[in-house]
Amino acid sequence: NQIKLFSPATIANLCCGFDVMGLCLDNIGDEVEIHKSETPGVRIVSIAGADLPLEAEKNVAGVAALALLREWPTDFGFEISITKKIKAGSGIGSSAASAAAAVFGINELLGRPYEGLDLIRFAMQGEKLASGSAHADNVAPALLGAFTLIRSYDPLDVIRIDSPEDLYAVVIHPDIELRTADARSVLKQNVSLPNAIEQWGNLGGLVAGLYTKDYGLIGRSLQDKVIEPLRGILIPGFDKLKTVAQQAGALGSGISGSGPSVFALCKGAASAQQTADMMSAVYGQISLKHDVWISSI
Ligand code: HSE
Repeated sequence: NQIKLFSPATIANLCCGFDVMGLCLDNIGDEVEIHKSETPGVRIVSIAGADLPLEAEKNVAGVAALALLREWPTDFGFEISITKKIKAGSGIGSSAASAAAAVFGINELLGRPYEGLDLIRFAMQGEKLASGSAHADNVAPALLGAFTLIRSYDPLDVIRIDSPEDLYAVVIHPDIELRTADARSVLKQNVSLPNAIEQWGNLGGLVAGLYTKDYGLIGRSLQDKVIEPLRGILIPGFDKLKTVAQQAGALGSGISGSGPSVFALCKGAASAQQTADMMSAVYGQISLKHDVWISSI
């Protein structure tokens, strides 16, 4: 009648895959507990580590849970307690972790009436509340693990892609908050044909690189001519971080989700550590408070 979950942080976009690519981190995430209760409906009973609304209709976990229960009504209810370890507005899927945990946990307590694709659909409602757009590139990897590709939003079609064994992610988070809604408001609605050609070439390259475990191809494909030029300027020291990641031997780097976190992908733990140290030193030099994480994928 109760379940305790680790709900992982995620990196969306991965440079060339705006709104369609994402990956799941292993060791950074929220903790969520869900209890069945006699009173029907969804109650968020506590949130530790963040100042977020408790009303279910205003909370991403609550909204996602309610979306599920609208399709699967019950004569009992659910109480959700959340311990946030992922800061809101950090660019590693904070809202997605809460939404994904709520629908995953409730689905388990109901005896698994739904599959991953449905859970993604419900969790997307939480993302819509958080950022104004029902993007799935954080909730999909949070629910399915490894890498995910949203092949289509309508109808929803999601492909899970295993991670090559030696692949590590480094994430550096400057201690500032950048709301996804704000980072989306700077984007243009049109893409030039030359940029589109590059972008879909790289996205194909990234997917091919993951399937064939071709680390060089993965690295070459981590490029973004569409979103990065518009958002990079919102992130302190962004160009410098990318330069040192490359010097440290990372395969590639870019903005994590909508920022302000910056990620790098690396082959092997030693390379990831070297990259993390050198990226951290960039913020050390300008005395900017930050966190840095290394995770296998
Ligand atoms: N694809 C979304 C964006 C991810 O970049 O706005 C937000 O984490």
